Amino acid sequence: MKGNFIYSNPTRLYFGDEAQKNLASALEGFGKKVLLVYGGGSIRRNGVYDDVMAALHQTGKEVVELSGVMPNPTLAKLNEGRRVARENNVDFILAVGGGSTIDYSKAVSVAAWYDGDAWDRYFVRQEDPQPGERIIPVGAVLTMAGTGSEMNGGSVITNQEAKLKIGKVFGEEVMPKFAVLNPRYTFSLPHRQMVAGIFDTMIHIMEQYFSGDDDSTSDYLAEGLMRSLIASSRVAVNDPENYEARSNIMWTATWALNTLIGKGKIQDWMVHMIGQAISAHTDATHGMTLSGVSVAYYRHVMNYGLDRFARFARVVWDIPSDGKSDSQLASEGIDALEAWIREIGAAAEISSLGVTEALIEPIADATIIFDAGYHRLDRSEVIEILRESL
Ligand code: NZQ
Ligand code: ZN
Repeated sequence: MKGNFIYSNPTRLYFGDEAQKNLASALEGFGKKVLLVYGGGSIRRNGVYDDVMAALHQTGKEVVELSGVMPNPTLAKLNEGRRVARENNVDFILAVGGGSTIDYSKAVSVAAWYDGDAWDRYFVRQEDPQPGERIIPVGAVLTMAGTGSEMNGGSVITNQEAKLKIGKVFGEEVMPKFAVLNPRYTFSLPHRQMVAGIFDTMIHIMEQYFSGDDDSTSDYLAEGLMRSLIASSRVAVNDPENYEARSNIMWTATWALNTLIGKGKIQDWMVHMIGQAISAHTDATHGMTLSGVSVAYYRHVMNYGLDRFARFARVVWDIPSDGKSDSQLASEGIDALEAWIREIGAAAEISSLGVTEALIEPIADATIIFDAGYHRLDRSEVIEILRESL
């Protein structure tokens, strides 16, 4: 393991098909007034809303509802939320939904009592709230597996006017105090969203795995998570109500991005940077933007980290070495990734998400470029990757 690091995660998880029974006790001690945040109404149709309301009533909470959080939540919606939270002086935010609802709730948490420009401070300048500033604590009831938002500090907001989608990773003070994870709550997800969440989980693991050259426990953990995810995905796409598969997917998604497997790792995150720029221009589903560009991206950077890409082929996809060169193995590993994308029905071309040739340059301009895992891209390489992904 390289580096010096702290591992600490304050989020208490309640997992299983009876997890919601813990919600009432989880809410104790967080004040009387709860802002209940949710999306476009799926929780009203699948019964999750009723479970949550029962727990809120049982504990005598006063509830203020804030609904309509859209996928890829916007700055305009954030401004509405901070006003509602502040005017009602809420003590706690309960986010019920997927990553968008939970990310949004974290943004409301830090923005509600900040008088300045929250977008500029938190997302553009990447500042953190200062000790002593008022932050509203957040809890989560997860209905879609994928982002890991239920156990991390991430919050991604889209500024539609500026055509920018930017994520901020907040510290422990903003991470959910608890998260209720009932795999059955994910059964009502449309097939496409389930697949998008599965692919998002895979790429979270890969973004951390494809960096560094030391022998690291984090990589062995990552490989185990990827193998479990691939196996469960194959069951879930054909049998979406298979509890065993869906519960594995939910648990894997949480551990894929709760900081554990990133410990000691430089990390990459360029697939996400390109994917976020695509969403900023098209409002496409997060996981699908990632599947759309990942094959071209990895083929592009593969030669800078051949050892790791060859190991990915051998360990994650069980591709026999058989005297093959690292380059051959690495390439077969990416072939396997591509075949899996098509097998589970994730987007294989970004043209299917509304990306056209005319959008390529604007998307490249909206792509934040990091030093990344094995190779720092330049703008022309981002353009090549986007073109190859069309
Ligand atoms: O709005 P509702 O009615 O809730 O419907 C949602 C939405 O239409 C629906 N859905 C969720 N659970 C459902 C359900 N429909 C039926 N039954 C259920 N049980 O699914 C749609 C997508 O939901 P959304 O929350 O947008 O999906 P996801 O969880 O993929 O979140 C995506 C957002 O998270 C950000 C993404 O950028 C994107 O904005 N991310 C957050 C991260 C983090 N916090 O660390 C990391 C990720 O890489 C990602 O960037
Ligand atoms: Zn993601």
